[in-house]
Amino acid sequence: MTTTPAAPLPLLVLGQGRDLRTERGVECPGDLPAPSDPDLVARARAAKAALGDKVFVLGHHYQRDEVIEFADVTGDSFKLAKEAAARPEAPWIVFCGVHFMAESADILTSDDQTVILPDLAAGCSMADMAAIAQVEDCWEQLTEAGVADVTVPVTYMNSSAAIKAFTGRHGGTICTSSNAKTALTWALDEHGGVGGEGKVLFLPDQHLGRNTWARDLGGALDDCVVWDPHKPMGGLTVEQLRDARMILWRGHCSVHGRFTVEAVEAARREIPDVRVIVHPECRHEVVELADEVGSTEKIIKTIAAAPDGTAWAVGTELNLVQRLAKEFPKQRIAFLEKNVCYCSTMNRIDLPHLVWALESLVEERVVNPIRVDEQVAADARRALDQMLALPGETSKD
Ligand code: 13P
Ligand code: SF4
Repeated sequence: MTTTPAAPLPLLVLGQGRDLRTERGVECPGDLPAPSDPDLVARARAAKAALGDKVFVLGHHYQRDEVIEFADVTGDSFKLAKEAAARPEAPWIVFCGVHFMAESADILTSDDQTVILPDLAAGCSMADMAAIAQVEDCWEQLTEAGVADVTVPVTYMNSSAAIKAFTGRHGGTICTSSNAKTALTWALDEHGGVGGEGKVLFLPDQHLGRNTWARDLGGALDDCVVWDPHKPMGGLTVEQLRDARMILWRGHCSVHGRFTVEAVEAARREIPDVRVIVHPECRHEVVELADEVGSTEKIIKTIAAAPDGTAWAVGTELNLVQRLAKEFPKQRIAFLEKNVCYCSTMNRIDLPHLVWALESLVEERVVNPIRVDEQVAADARRALDQMLALPGETSKD
């Protein structure tokens, strides 16, 4: 049998061109300082001092130490967006994180402020797993299957602004890893709650959706189906869709998806009295075996509050785990899985890019601004505001 080869995917050399089909552009105009420049730290300090209150630097917990050193505030994705919104006096917000976070900050800041992402190649592989055309197509098929009326979209912060806007247009909410339980409860409430008839279309992280449903809400795993955007009808039958309560988008984090059951078992074997703590983007079987599960903020707070001498095996991004080990030397902190590497896109933001962005601002030149289309931003804001209105909303743990 002969098959027609698929059209080759366009390959972009990092730092050149722009891929509009993914959630981030890839472009880095201008000359970057050399990573070997011994004056980088001094240059970053001088540029920040020259800019004073005109710039506010936000750093996600997964950023490199060399970048975190220059952050005015650190936090998880939504805490950082709220921090950005709380600084109306700073015309420039330099976002040291990934593209979807900078987009959310742009949506939540005023029109007079500009959000800057020091390297546009800092995307998120999970966010890239759901393209807006695929999501619109999915909704159309859910409508044809007669289930859209009882389905509420719940979209993880780790998604493009276009998908947040889709969520706003269809009466859904955004969630973070810290409030996913509240968001799901809210979404299901309209059709009889957890035991009722309503459904959630959970985008784009299947693991966070499954973990929240099964672990936090006590739902059955059998109630979850996975929508594969590359298959007709998501690879599901109408009957499967009708029976399901959670329609999970087939997306995952390429970093957290690599933590394994074997690694948890090895940690328990090798480290006496170890406590295993993981991010809810990890696979369900890993989360089930952990002692604690939570967002980056929760992981930090839990470890900070533990008595000296506690042993931890931590399943989240390596920059954060290494920093925790340095900050809490009286606790014994290990990385859960030896085969997991840094989040490569988070690591795109390095000191040369930060220096380049700051020094450009000193010269009144804005590089890599993140500007979400006005209509998209208005619809996305509805879904973000819905999250803020959730009972007891907190992005802090
Ligand atoms: P947090 O919101 O918990 O910081 O997580 C963001 C993220 O990208 C995790 O991979
Ligand atoms: Fe995206 Fe995973 Fe990196 Fe978080 S750790 S930014 S979810 S790829």
